[in-house]
Amino acid sequence: MLKLNNISKSYNKGEVKAVDNLNLEIKSGEIFGFLGPNGAGKTTTIKMIVGLLKPDEGKIILDGVDVWQDSLRAKSMISYVPDNPEIYDRLNGIEYLNFIADMYGISKEERTKKIEYYTKLFNIEDSLGDIIGSFSHGMKQKLVLTSALLNDPNLFILDEPMVGLDPKSSFNLKEIMRKMCNEGKTVFFSTHVMEVAEKLCDRIAIINKGKIIALGTMEELRAHAKERESLENIFLELTDNE
Ligand SMILES: Nc1ncnc2c1ncn2[C@@H]1O[C@H](COP(=O)(O)OP(=O)(O)OP(=O)(O)O)[C@@H](O)[C@H]1O
Ligand SMILES: [Mg+2]
Repeated sequence: MLKLNNISKSYNKGEVKAVDNLNLEIKSGEIFGFLGPNGAGKTTTIKMIVGLLKPDEGKIILDGVDVWQDSLRAKSMISYVPDNPEIYDRLNGIEYLNFIADMYGISKEERTKKIEYYTKLFNIEDSLGDIIGSFSHGMKQKLVLTSALLNDPNLFILDEPMVGLDPKSSFNLKEIMRKMCNEGKTVFFSTHVMEVAEKLCDRIAIINKGKIIALGTMEELRAHAKERESLENIFLELTDNE
């Protein structure tokens, strides 16, 4: 279970309050979608959860571990796919995957199996000997996804993971996310693709100007909106009102 307790974060010495006293509780086995307009605070929240940005206030607890007090232990339980797959351009694909596997202490046997499986699934197995600088955006995204899947995380957290992925890879990723939840893991991801959120997520939060303005299952969100048909309509209605 992931718990965010009164999390706040400002930039530029308090001029921009990116995340404003945010509370969330996400259960194990749940696919949780994090939606919101550009600049709403999604990436800032995600970076605080994965230990890249320190909250000004509040606590983040993952399965009983305080992400900021016991950060190494927390990090070993988290796999993170950032919004921008800017990684070491001068390594080749397989060097990068082995580097990540070394950091997580994954055995040779386990990593070989997983690297083979996921690089075939994402169709990048023939490029692993090439330097990452020569990869397209989507290929880098797939390499980062593969590296995130080498570990066996309690929390799989992804920032706009579908951006740049071809339809088949996007489909495969959604299947992987579902499978992880069925295994009792927590999947938390941000997206601007309403259809993906609507179809995939057990629950959804909409954040605007650093605050949660809606939270619940699709049915619960529908019940609170005037335009009840699609998540797109609900999103537009709620974020326009703010
Ligand atoms: N490094 C930074 N320095 C200053 N301000 C920042 C920084 N990063 C983000 N912000 C500000 O914090 C707010 C939240 O940004 P954030 O990146 O979390 O939004 P987001 O919801 O991820 O948006 P998007 O959908 O565009 O990815 C915005 O007002 C943004 O300008
Ligand atoms: Mg973002």
